[in-house]
Amino acid sequence: MTQQMDTRLRFLEADVSRSPESFADVVAEGLSAAQKWLPCRYFYDEAGSHLFEMICDLPEYYLTRTERAILDTHADAMLKAAGDISALVEFGSGSGCKTRILLDAAGKNRPNNLSYIPVDISGEFLYNSSRALMQDYPGLSITAIAAEYNDAISMLPPRSGPRLFLFMGSNVGNFDPCEAASFLARIRSGMHSEDRLLVGIDLHKHHSHLEPAYDDAAGVTSRFNKNLLKRINRELGANFDLDQFDHHAPFVDHHSRIEMRLVSQREQTVRIAALDRKFTFQPEEYIHTENSHKYSHAAFSRLALEAGLAIENSWTDEREWFAVCLLKPIEARH
Ligand code: TRP
Repeated sequence: MTQQMDTRLRFLEADVSRSPESFADVVAEGLSAAQKWLPCRYFYDEAGSHLFEMICDLPEYYLTRTERAILDTHADAMLKAAGDISALVEFGSGSGCKTRILLDAAGKNRPNNLSYIPVDISGEFLYNSSRALMQDYPGLSITAIAAEYNDAISMLPPRSGPRLFLFMGSNVGNFDPCEAASFLARIRSGMHSEDRLLVGIDLHKHHSHLEPAYDDAAGVTSRFNKNLLKRINRELGANFDLDQFDHHAPFVDHHSRIEMRLVSQREQTVRIAALDRKFTFQPEEYIHTENSHKYSHAAFSRLALEAGLAIENSWTDEREWFAVCLLKPIEARH
């Protein structure tokens, strides 16, 4: 479905009826597994997207702040390294505040001829942030794509010059390494030799710094995690008691990742009307809802290589807690 909002803003929405699995199917599958799980893409309804914005401002959540500082310092160098780009394509755009730093830097070369193509799963959020950007950047044209990342790649508008793809905020860490490599490879398959991809990665550090970032004192991340249960209650007629689950976010060393969990405080049974099924939880049994992988430079470089990409340049902060890497396609040899 395409809606023409304005000559400068196009809004594309993936046809959800094509999506093979419904929310109900995925919830049934996840809660029936020996290790219960729920898919993280359902975090981001409107409430979830707002909670996520709040997470980004938390004192414990160093990721956003650190990445922003790296962009503030190095955006011009990044854009220079990327060449004279005509479009920024961003996967997982959120509210776009970091995007503005890059748009400002890109606009110095091309104030009137730049397009921005944000991709986000939350249509409403995407729409609102696109409108705000349009107002603030009179020379910018926007094609907003409300879709899952993989679907979005085939929906991109035709290329009109060098593009810079953005995958910021350590979102690559939310994939398993295998999935991350195949997603980067999909982006790679749509890249021309002059296109570049900027990826923000959260670097290895002691778990005493990592864990509070995902389990803040004010309990915002807990609300964000439990929002999944709220959605199941509302959309699938379930009776999860949110007070009977605890949010946990341990760093699991052998996977080099934070795991987000919802831990049942006691034995309990939850009914989900839309599935006409009940699920029993043992005390301490948990639902695994999200992973956030942490990389070393070397491990990320190997991952990129698997996807046919090479790190051309990278920028980090003083503590080396976070890195922004500029990737370029490795030319196939004939
Ligand atoms: N990609 C970011 C991270 O891993 C943001 C994020 C995704 C996140 N899911 C989350 C943050 C769940 C907190 C909780 O940190």
